Amino acid sequence: MLGDVIDLLVCPVCRDDLILSDGSVRCPRGHSFDVARQGYLNLLNTPVRGDTPEMVAARTAFLERGHYAPIAETVAALSAGDVLDAGAGTGHYLARAVRDRGLALDVSKHALKKAAKAHPKIGAVAADVWKPLPVRDAAFDTVLNVFAPRNASEFHRVLKPTGRLITVTPNPDHLEPVVERFGLLTVDDEKDRRLSDTLGDHFARDVTEPVAGWLDLTAAEVMSVIAMGPNAWHARAGDVREGARVRMSVQVTVWRPKS
Ligand SMILES: C[S@@+](CC[C@H](N)C(=O)[O-])C[C@H]1O[C@@H](n2cnc3c(N)ncnc32)[C@H](O)[C@@H]1O
Ligand SMILES: [Zn+2]
Repeated sequence: MLGDVIDLLVCPVCRDDLILSDGSVRCPRGHSFDVARQGYLNLLNTPVRGDTPEMVAARTAFLERGHYAPIAETVAALSAGDVLDAGAGTGHYLARAVRDRGLALDVSKHALKKAAKAHPKIGAVAADVWKPLPVRDAAFDTVLNVFAPRNASEFHRVLKPTGRLITVTPNPDHLEPVVERFGLLTVDDEKDRRLSDTLGDHFARDVTEPVAGWLDLTAAEVMSVIAMGPNAWHARAGDVREGARVRMSVQVTVWRPKS
């Protein structure tokens, strides 16, 4: 619930405390913010394009089939305490990883509607990962980042010194052979080095756990896997006529904040 995480948040305008009363959120200096009917708090100054309703529906359908359960289980086993999920989408991973309290951040209101209901311990907030996060310093034990944009300095700021960043990133063979067949975005061999480049000033790589397997997908599930990701902007999922045996291949990496 939003009320459980409000003391972990700050006003995005002046960085003062936020107070939730009578279903609305204010800071002591008079900045006020909307709580949507569906339960998420909007702390975005300007709207940002995130996942569309179609992408969120495809993601929900695919994740509910349990194909990525081994990823969620690995992430959950590595998480502790208060957990922030940056680019949380529907809150699927956070709902499994949350221990004490969970904060789902995303720019997509369609995703946040789902995240707000994903687990009783989760609060959902519209915020841009590329901007200063509306979150207190050293507030979280775990930051999750699952197939989503990364902001290394902000993730470092909001983590306790004893906390951990957990990233999930695709390997070059993830979603083969669907990637070639439908001309989707590919993951190149340099991606892992770039991940270290992006995070390396603020974090040291602690543990890397590969999660891999084969998924026997129906035609509808192949359509969902295409339509739920960045590929939705590139591919025509409607062209899928038959099911496929698809590779799942990601890495779950635990990062320790540098002091
Ligand atoms: C590929 S989806 C992953 C969602 C979720 N982590 C999952 O794996 O189910 C990427 C998510 O990042 C969100 N996103 C994109 N740009 C963002 C930004 N600048 N700040 C916050 N979230 C963003 C999208 O709306 C989307 O929900
Ligand atoms: Zn304020």
